[in-house]
Amino acid sequence: MSDSQFLKVFGGMLMGLIALTLVIYAVANMVGGKATVKLSQTGHDKAVAEHIQPMGILAVSAAAAMDTLIPTASAADGKATYNAACTACHGTGVAGAPKVGDKASWKPRIAQGNDTLYEHALKGYQGKKGFMPAKGGNASLADADVKAAVDFMVAQSK
Ligand code: HEC
Repeated sequence: MSDSQFLKVFGGMLMGLIALTLVIYAVANMVGGKATVKLSQTGHDKAVAEHIQPMGILAVSAAAAMDTLIPTASAADGKATYNAACTACHGTGVAGAPKVGDKASWKPRIAQGNDTLYEHALKGYQGKKGFMPAKGGNASLADADVKAAVDFMVAQSK
């Protein structure tokens, strides 16, 4: 991998991590704030439950964060990203998604050129067959990972 490619991928990962930190921070603040207000209004048992809840939510969001981080961490690994974020629709051809490996449905799509495929995968689009959500609905994915996933899908479908 060339230096500039590495910088791009690494920069994308860093942005993703920062965004994730902000989200977790915002969630923690929201949940924490709610619990304090209720603490002064409700009985002891409820207050304890409210107090413990943020920990549970934090644990869940930390686990979710790990899930998103692991595929992201293996920089621009198209296969891992595909398995994590795209296979739900493109593995089976659900809701009009072109199935990976189905050469006939990919031929006209590949013919549009990579730029269009990337653009549609990154920003999402409404096609004739169905709706492709931006980044497969996983906004925390780095652009480089989504593009790598497109490359992987195209390579499997030629
Ligand atoms: C919720 C289901 C869903 C998920 C998840 C999903 N897609 Fe799609 N995708 C679609 C559908 C439906 C289409 C076809 C839309 C059409 O052409 O009518 C599509 C089309 C595409 C196309 C073809 C675009 C074109 O111009 O023909 C690419 C490339 C693509 N998806 C990439 C991805 C990638 C990469 C991911 C994972 C990051 C992903 N998709 C996840 C539903 C999904």
